[in-house]
Amino acid sequence: MTGVEFAPSAVFKAKKLAALGEVDVTFVQSDLFEWNWPQNVFDITLGLFFQFVGPDQRNVLWCKMLDATRPGGLIAIHGYTPKQLEFGTGGPPNAANMYSKADFDRIFRKCDVLVSEEYEAEQRSGSAHVGMSALIDFIARKPRS
Ligand SMILES: C[S@@+](CC[C@H](N)C(=O)[O-])C[C@H]1O[C@@H](n2cnc3c(N)ncnc32)[C@H](O)[C@@H]1O
Repeated sequence: MTGVEFAPSAVFKAKKLAALGEVDVTFVQSDLFEWNWPQNVFDITLGLFFQFVGPDQRNVLWCKMLDATRPGGLIAIHGYTPKQLEFGTGGPPNAANMYSKADFDRIFRKCDVLVSEEYEAEQRSGSAHVGMSALIDFIARKPRS
């Protein structure tokens, strides 16, 4: 398992949680736009809360996720939809930084989509993401060839 994140405090917290859970993780402290992404290697490539970028940069990262996943592997993405602005329970006050089901169409068009769901649920993640939230889950399988 490999985790990539550029904030030292987040890497520190993730290391503590991994030790508590006795999970073996390689942590990489890097900007995702500068990281030397591997190609076709991960069984599952998971991206959580890409709310820190707008659509163009988000697409760049989603392309990198797809390239990094092995043929037949899974890409999983979670985050907020634009409706989250109505809840105000986390994320930036900027609809362009949220994503909807249609936003996955272009980059993952050759994938087999297993889950693409927008929903509302209570969330409790740290102190800045607490309360009813507008969320999205997307899981797709990369073609085998
Ligand atoms: C909303 S938080 C999500 C944190 C975690 N994945 C979770 O679900 O609890 C977004 C994270 O992205 C990190 N981040 C933002 N821009 C980044 C970049 N360019 N490269 C790597 N990490 C970045 C931030 O430091 C922050 O920890």
